[in-house]
Amino acid sequence: MKSAFLFLMLMTNVMVFAQTNTVQLIPQPVDVQVLNGEYTLAAGASVTFSKPEAQPVARMLVQKINQATGFKYSDKQGQAGSIQLNLNASPDTKLGKEGYTLVSSSKGIVIAANEPAGLFYGVQTLFQLLPKEIESKVPVKANWTVPAVKITDFPRFAWRGLMLDVSRNFFTKEEVKQYMDEMVRFKFNTLHLHLTDDNGWRIEIKSLPRLTEVGAWRVPRYGTFGERKAPMPGEKATVGGFYTQDDIRELLAYAQTLFITIVPEIDVPGHSMAAIAAYPELCCTKDTSVKVNPGSNFAQWFGDGKFKMFIDNALNPSDEKVYEFLDKVFTELAALFPSPYIHVGGDECYRGYWENDAGCQALMKELNTTESIKLHGYFMNRVEKILNAKGKKLLGWDEILEGGISPGATVMSWRGIEGGIEAAHLGHDVVMTPTTYTYIDYTQGDPTVDPPIYSHLRLKKCYSFNPVPEGVDAKYILGGQGNLWTEQVVTLRHAEYMTWPRSWALAEDFWTPDEKKNWENFVLRVENQFGRSDVAGVNYSRAMYDAIVRATMQEGKIWVEMESEVPGVDIYYTIDGGMPGIYSPKYTEAFEMPEGPITLRVITFRNGARIGNLITLRPNDLKARAQGE
Ligand code: ACM
Repeated sequence: MKSAFLFLMLMTNVMVFAQTNTVQLIPQPVDVQVLNGEYTLAAGASVTFSKPEAQPVARMLVQKINQATGFKYSDKQGQAGSIQLNLNASPDTKLGKEGYTLVSSSKGIVIAANEPAGLFYGVQTLFQLLPKEIESKVPVKANWTVPAVKITDFPRFAWRGLMLDVSRNFFTKEEVKQYMDEMVRFKFNTLHLHLTDDNGWRIEIKSLPRLTEVGAWRVPRYGTFGERKAPMPGEKATVGGFYTQDDIRELLAYAQTLFITIVPEIDVPGHSMAAIAAYPELCCTKDTSVKVNPGSNFAQWFGDGKFKMFIDNALNPSDEKVYEFLDKVFTELAALFPSPYIHVGGDECYRGYWENDAGCQALMKELNTTESIKLHGYFMNRVEKILNAKGKKLLGWDEILEGGISPGATVMSWRGIEGGIEAAHLGHDVVMTPTTYTYIDYTQGDPTVDPPIYSHLRLKKCYSFNPVPEGVDAKYILGGQGNLWTEQVVTLRHAEYMTWPRSWALAEDFWTPDEKKNWENFVLRVENQFGRSDVAGVNYSRAMYDAIVRATMQEGKIWVEMESEVPGVDIYYTIDGGMPGIYSPKYTEAFEMPEGPITLRVITFRNGARIGNLITLRPNDLKARAQGE
């Protein structure tokens, strides 16, 4: 009797373990209760929606089920389907606009929400509760079960964004749609498109045709960005592209079906070389030889945020014609985009040409100032007036604080969290997107494995991000955003690789209550999601499995220290020129590299199977790393 009871207890535990293991959601919901039993999708079952506004979500659910299972689900209005999408008759206030409840049992599945967006996110959760084969684009066999659960879920933040830089590298509208498809699986709701920069102007402005005739095209160059050859005189600009206004309308309509807001960015007054190549009269030097930059070096970076531009890439703040230009641009933008915000950049503006310009000097006199940063403030305030007149709010990078900006402006804190803290204290709304946690253009594994870029950001660091810094009133923090700059990202596949899994971490930072986050548990869910991404055909990085290799110099000798950011990983290495395997030395503690021309090779394994990339550090690499280079 006693042993039978024990056996039952054991079995129950095993079952509970097995069941909770099948509920692996990203982002982690606010509350998940795993119940006994499961629901099995069956051919010919129906999806009902309680009100017509919910039909598009029902259609999307049916389409995905039918595509992967080969079943013939249909959708109809009502509340009797085996899967029900119900809009609450009276709002459940804790769910807000985007929250939902999901209850599954052997009888069926009920998703309820106050608004269609909530149903949409409930459906995204349902997809993650189904086997990974639900991501298949052709009918496949699978055990189409959904564990019995009761989920209550709503987002921590209203702004859950990713930024895609389509200027440095142009992505087609089909690619942007695909990127949005991938975002919503993890409940991102904002796509910030960085539409203009030194390297390309990507949106048709009908009243200023040269912006895309000239500004959207650059000479063909490959290799490390910033080290490429400058355009030659007379050389044809053949690389680039832009979105017509019809393309933008198509993207916006698509985004709407995914409950995504597209926020456009026109980056001014700096980062404007593409616009200046088209209209040289917009800058102080009026240099007609300026071309759209192909990734050649035109700046010197002194560290500490200081820099000098060898080519004038800033609009002239003292020229009324510049504001007429901007009025045209923002008139067309405001008419196209429903977003309440237009991002106007404001970052990294070099003021050297302003300081030498008679018009700017006269304006400074008029403003009764000797500081050229005040010209930046003047410019931004003029831009804000233009936007406000068109019913839009100004959003800018944190530099907009420096010249003085009205409290109505919203600030994206990118140079760490400090700008965001300062902005919130001044009463600005803030989107937190600091380099330290959210710059997904940075390398994520060993810097010798990925294309080089100037900094580094691992998955675990992304996951540790809390967008509300201590001492800041949370009401000012709209949310957070990951930024994918694309200087070194020239295909959508590589964009995916840079985005995932780091943006799974960010999705959880922006959706899940901070106290519900747990790194070890997240790693399990990431591994599960890798399998789902494989079925979906979405690329991702496995850099979390790679060893973290540190080198230090101690009394003239190089010491090597290694670790893994995920549990259960063994690090094997060689210093004899061989390829690391499970019979090579296993790393246990820091060691001194022997003198001589010796290469360190490192590979990680789990349960005896290779799991990580080969990291190869030649003597010079190790020396540079030990010297902090
Ligand atoms: C930025 O990364 N320059 C906003």
